[in-house]
Amino acid sequence: MKKIALIVMVLFVMTWVFSQEDVIHKLQLDSYDLQWQIQGEQIIITLKANTVGWISVGFNPSRIMKDADIKIGYVDDQGDVFFEDHFGNSMFSHRKDRGGNEAQNFHVIQGSQQDEWTEIQFSMPLNSGDENDQILDLQEPVKIIFAMGYGDNIRAKHFNTDSATIVLQP
Ligand code: HEM
Repeated sequence: MKKIALIVMVLFVMTWVFSQEDVIHKLQLDSYDLQWQIQGEQIIITLKANTVGWISVGFNPSRIMKDADIKIGYVDDQGDVFFEDHFGNSMFSHRKDRGGNEAQNFHVIQGSQQDEWTEIQFSMPLNSGDENDQILDLQEPVKIIFAMGYGDNIRAKHFNTDSATIVLQP
């Protein structure tokens, strides 16, 4: 009897844990739409922004853009996705994470462009261990910054930015 009760309890806890991880969270701003889902040590992110140029999301800047873990990319006219892992190396600039391909901590799942909106879905570790990335604590407030450009040149400045501070939660 005790064994059955234990099995039921384990199944209950497992169901709770998995249902928590299945939750798709959403943050909707005027020109940006962010959806995310926690899967173990990874976060799956769908970033959508109102442009056919480059789009970007950044995590936990210390000031404006500085120190943010920036993920940036675009979908070209052939539908191919270009995406890079950057960081805010000053309040008004960013550069590719140091350390070559090893420091490019993301995996692109898909990307598309439709009706003046670009969407890129990718996964990244909550804690990559890379000094140019930020550790995402699911219980603590995280500042998220957004930016977009007119064209596919990720070196060009944004024409629009936004930000929000939220708790990511499992
Ligand atoms: C070459 C690329 C970039 C340049 C030259 C640049 C430059 C600047 C400058 C000069 C500002 C000050 C305010 C303004 O003039 O709008 C700023 C603000 C900002 N940037 Fe960037 N930026 C670049 C890319 C990015 C990227 C990739 C992000 C990614 C999320 C970003 C997010 C922001 C945010 C959130 C602000 C704050 C806006 C505000 O507080 O009103 N920027 N940037």
